[in-house]
Amino acid sequence: MQNSFARRVGDVAIRPATSSDVHKVIAVNWATLPEHYSDSFFTELLRDAPETFIVAVLGGETIGYVMCRIEYGFSTTRRFGLGRKGHIVSLAVLASCREKGVGTGLVQEALDGMRKRGCSEAYLEVRVGNVAAVRLYERLQFRIVSELPGYYRDGEPAVLMTLALDSKAG
Ligand SMILES: CC(C)(COP(=O)(O)OP(=O)(O)OC[C@H]1O[C@@H](n2cnc3c(N)ncnc32)[C@H](O)[C@@H]1OP(=O)(O)O)[C@@H](O)C(=O)NCCC(=O)NCCS
Repeated sequence: MQNSFARRVGDVAIRPATSSDVHKVIAVNWATLPEHYSDSFFTELLRDAPETFIVAVLGGETIGYVMCRIEYGFSTTRRFGLGRKGHIVSLAVLASCREKGVGTGLVQEALDGMRKRGCSEAYLEVRVGNVAAVRLYERLQFRIVSELPGYYRDGEPAVLMTLALDSKAG
């Protein structure tokens, strides 16, 4: 049981997830996004990168999450560079709790976790039409680097967004 929290946004506690949060995260995923995953996928991301699997909790209820994968490969921010990258796999906040800074707080906490894991950059794919999410990431200094045609099952393209991370947390 984890009682401490890493960050607060109003009355919302933003903290790393534990295994007992996973079923609540799955419920938020089903309520908010068309992309779903097997239960084991959530568990594996938590096991492999607990520093970047973050939940938002209000009054004991899980209202949002972000989960990421730590990868190694070619840089999207530096030419010819190889390095460790934090991949934001999924981010969501319940509709009734949006536009209060919770989504931003979740991503900021995940970026801190990526820095702790030695990542030199963060990246994600997001639907071209998801204006709220693209704006959130742009406010955090992510930049669109390319478009990925037909990325989603329904045919909608994604944009690839990246952010160079400095080494210090914060
Ligand atoms: C994208 C998503 C996670 C954003 O979550 P959120 O909690 O609303 O995000 P924030 O509150 O941090 O930012 C959203 C807006 O609220 C504004 N805001 C933040 N704090 C605020 C406050 N205290 N008062 C008023 N507005 C505020 C932000 O400035 C931002 O406005 P803008 O879009 O005009 O720039 C949410 O819309 C969502 O879950 N969407 C469905 C799932 C999804 O699309 N996920 C992303 C896939 S990659």
